[in-house]
Amino acid sequence: MPQLLTVSDLTIRFGLQSAVDGVSFTLAAGETLGLVGESGSGKSATSLALLRLLPPSATLSGQIHFDSRNLLAESEAAMRRLRGREIAMIFQEPMTALNPVMQIGTQIAEAIRAHHPGLSRAEVKARTVAALHEVALPDPERRLTDYPHQFSGGQRQRILIAIALSNRPRLLIADEPTTALDVTVQAQILDLLRTLRATHNLAMLFISHDLAVISRIADRVAVMQRGRIVEQAAAADLFRSPRHPYTRQLLASAPTMHTDRSKPLATLA
Ligand SMILES: Nc1ncnc2c1ncn2[C@@H]1O[C@H](COP(=O)(O)OP(=O)(O)OP(=O)(O)O)[C@@H](O)[C@H]1O
Ligand SMILES: [Mg+2]
Repeated sequence: MPQLLTVSDLTIRFGLQSAVDGVSFTLAAGETLGLVGESGSGKSATSLALLRLLPPSATLSGQIHFDSRNLLAESEAAMRRLRGREIAMIFQEPMTALNPVMQIGTQIAEAIRAHHPGLSRAEVKARTVAALHEVALPDPERRLTDYPHQFSGGQRQRILIAIALSNRPRLLIADEPTTALDVTVQAQILDLLRTLRATHNLAMLFISHDLAVISRIADRVAVMQRGRIVEQAAAADLFRSPRHPYTRQLLASAPTMHTDRSKPLATLA
């Protein structure tokens, strides 16, 4: 399968401190890689590097190829065109990612106009409404003029997904997108992402510390510990027969669909 994204030997330092150390993985069109690992293991730094959104204090080495392009060599202008258009991102906290004083219709329209300046007002509005329909937000025409605080947490995450997908990206980076939501809403958002992924042949890098969430969405899983990928495997294999001791620890300490519920959960060493 031709790869959409190839990350080779990615290393990220903040000053003298190493945050990511020789990370390599690939992602094909339509495929979902789950990136899992404890807090501080380098998951977010890795994903921000793909969009070249790390602060200037970060030094990067290695290679990131998206399609045929070397992202670490692209100009800043080229990266601006690519962000949101070809690679989009959603975050954990939809309230902070949305502008609290701007109507949600305007925020989606701005995202569309940023990459399609030639569209008429009517065309932008039609695309805005279509984007909200696609994420199953109830009654989108009537809610375009509402502000983020007038929506529930789950609805706000739907709006962020609508913004992220409004320009039909090929890769979606989702960094703990359901962590702030309660379990029922979390399941609904995962269902929605699965549906949209199939409709758009969307590749996804799905970051979570929660193995139960990862097990519901990922085709393959990469396990990070202290800046390195310690194990990478097809999701079914990893959950059935984890090889690395750290993966076993993670699995033993997290209830998943495969957990033996008659035994107590282990704690991380
Ligand atoms: N802007 C920054 N300046 C300095 N150090 C940073 C910066 N961002 C991240 N780091 C460091 O890089 C390492 C990896 O951080 P990262 O945010 O990628 O972890 P993470 O796996 O996403 O953790 P979490 O699950 O808590 O989100 C950590 O040691 C962190 O302190
Ligand atoms: Mg993080």
